[in-house]
Amino acid sequence: MASKLFVTKSIDKLLDQADASKHTFKRTLGVGHLVLLGIGAIIGAGLFVRTAAAASEHAGAAVTLSYVLAAVGCLFAGLCYAEFASSIPIAGSAYTYSYVTLGEFVAWIIGWELILEYGLGAATVAIAWSEYLNKLLANFNMQVPFQWSHSPFETSIDGTMHGIMNIPAVFILGLLSMLLIRGTQQSALVNAIIVIIKVAIVLLFIAFGWSFIKPENHIPFIPPAGSYTDSSGITHSFGGFMGILAGAGTVFFAFIGFDAVSTAAQEAKNPKKDMPMGILLSLAICTILYILFSYVLTGVASYEDFRVHGKEASVAYAIQTYMTGYGWLATFITVAILAGFSSVILVMLLGQSRVFYSMSRDGLVPKVFSDLHPKFSTPWKSNMIFFLFTGLFAAFLPGSLTGDLTSIGTLSAFLLVSAGILVIRRTQPNLKRSFTTPFVPLVPILGIITCAAMMFGLDAYTWIGFLCWTALGFVVYFLYSRYHSVAQKDAMK
Ligand code: ALA
Repeated sequence: MASKLFVTKSIDKLLDQADASKHTFKRTLGVGHLVLLGIGAIIGAGLFVRTAAAASEHAGAAVTLSYVLAAVGCLFAGLCYAEFASSIPIAGSAYTYSYVTLGEFVAWIIGWELILEYGLGAATVAIAWSEYLNKLLANFNMQVPFQWSHSPFETSIDGTMHGIMNIPAVFILGLLSMLLIRGTQQSALVNAIIVIIKVAIVLLFIAFGWSFIKPENHIPFIPPAGSYTDSSGITHSFGGFMGILAGAGTVFFAFIGFDAVSTAAQEAKNPKKDMPMGILLSLAICTILYILFSYVLTGVASYEDFRVHGKEASVAYAIQTYMTGYGWLATFITVAILAGFSSVILVMLLGQSRVFYSMSRDGLVPKVFSDLHPKFSTPWKSNMIFFLFTGLFAAFLPGSLTGDLTSIGTLSAFLLVSAGILVIRRTQPNLKRSFTTPFVPLVPILGIITCAAMMFGLDAYTWIGFLCWTALGFVVYFLYSRYHSVAQKDAMK
């Protein structure tokens, strides 16, 4: 029995399945669309919310170095991803890649961790959306009451109010789920417009903020090693190398999404060439923007600011408080951030339903996840189910918890993808690839090491959540998936 745990799907069969199936998605996306899809997924709450969190809780001004470290990890994993995506142009992301290389059980674990990446990632960004919505409403003397815009785990700065449920976060998830059900084509157009606005505001903040940098906020650039206990009583490693490492685990969230490009492989016009380009270009553009942005943000406001009054909607806070004469920019950026977050949520929800589409076709999750809408050709039932799932998390959990869980789940999937390249080079040496990972085995090994180091930097609560989630995945696999798996049934014939 044990050997069947590692039953693999053949790549040829996968390709046939994608081409011959009457359920095939329409091939409409070119390389430009894919880069837009990538940047649409990448720049979001990680940059506009988690940067300040990483600075205040872990790294101080050295969050810039955390970004460098996280980017290096993503580059290694991205190079591995690109080889997979160029040889296996099928919807399903890391899940599908591992099914043909590492076998069903590992594929299942990855697919399960991708729920943390996409599902919980969407919830995290929706929570951040709610923060910035309140910041915008405050300009018009309005507010969604604290109780109805925060989770039960959060208390206001003065300690007088407790959260009950985050209604704006649920609202935006519902709205975008409806848009997705209407179809990828329309969603891609909306996404393209938003991406342009999003990149523009990052550039504007860097350009205008540069002259407001106070050198003292960057001194010492790397705070001395120690710890910091936040208002909920959680102690984080702060300063020194461990602070930078923990900061990298946190801001890693900002890079999540470049792999979402690969989930659209089945909708790409020329997947073998365009997928690697889409992934690597998106990653390169975002890395440059992030390093500059985090340098300016931590120069305009200090990391101590981000522990109290600048904890929420940190970028708008920094502009309003320290960049005299740029109030208009704060409002403009807030509106643009709201739009930008929407595009991230859209791609995350899209990725989630596509991964589950593949898992459902393989029999690992119920068929309802691969039922396509007769008119829109979208997995609409899956979209509805994931709205409920992500909505529950967004309504009742704080963004810091969902954010770090998203990071750790994604890092574990990237680690396995890097390992997958080492395996596929041995087991499928003749597979046609239009892109090959350079310096194998060095690059995959460095990918494994950097992802593991960033996971190690995350705190104990995140690890407990991650291990519980993974254990639940094992239970589902051994009670359901194993008995419904198409590959298992084929192997028995
Ligand atoms: N990278 C995405 C963000 O930062 C998930 O919002």
